[in-house]
Amino acid sequence: MIRDEYAIGPLEKKHDRSIFSCGSDALDGYLRERASQDAKKRVATIFVLTEASENTVIGYYTLAAGNVDLGEWPPALKKKLPLYPVVPVTLLGRLALDKKYHGKKLGEHILMDALLRCSTVAREIASVAVIVDAIDEKALKFYEHYGFRMFPKQSNRLFLHMQTINEMFEP
Ligand SMILES: CC(C)(COP(=O)(O)OP(=O)(O)OC[C@H]1O[C@@H](n2cnc3c(N)ncnc32)[C@H](O)[C@@H]1OP(=O)(O)O)[C@@H](O)C(=O)NCCC(=O)NCCS
Repeated sequence: MIRDEYAIGPLEKKHDRSIFSCGSDALDGYLRERASQDAKKRVATIFVLTEASENTVIGYYTLAAGNVDLGEWPPALKKKLPLYPVVPVTLLGRLALDKKYHGKKLGEHILMDALLRCSTVAREIASVAVIVDAIDEKALKFYEHYGFRMFPKQSNRLFLHMQTINEMFEP
């Protein structure tokens, strides 16, 4: 899925994160200071984008398992869910691209890579939707551009139903 001149894989020691700058101090700081620990403690997996045969990180996203209270879902979707207190989801916790690479469709590429991974994993470990927390209005619009919808009671949390994601990757 990713273009030949780029590579995506799990964060490893060889990856250089020191000059990563996406425009958000929080997302830059997370990659430099917390990502390795989160991966080690198994609370998130971190996938990084590099130029092929380079080790400098130019983008990343994180994934983790989660759940969402039944009462949080929009009524139309809630009606289709079983009456369990919570339902399983996949959290796309963070996604960011170095500023030098913005506007070249690489944001789309890493998002699609993340969604394809979520869809593949969900064939074996059930998940109703992929959830994102948008850090600001711009991020929210980016996710809405790809069909994510807001949770009614939350200002920055959005979801994309797994069935929709599966259909995106159907041959
Ligand atoms: C969000 C981010 C990953 C987008 O990457 P990008 O390379 O600038 O975007 P792309 O070139 O891949 O854009 C792909 C499409 O999304 C659209 N898009 C990008 N940013 C958008 C925004 N803020 N609002 C609406 N649409 C947006 C583009 O117009 C393009 O649309 P098109 O396919 O119709 O032409 C990048 O700007 C970034 O890292 N921002 C800082 C961190 C951040 O906000 N992360 C997300 C929340 S945690």
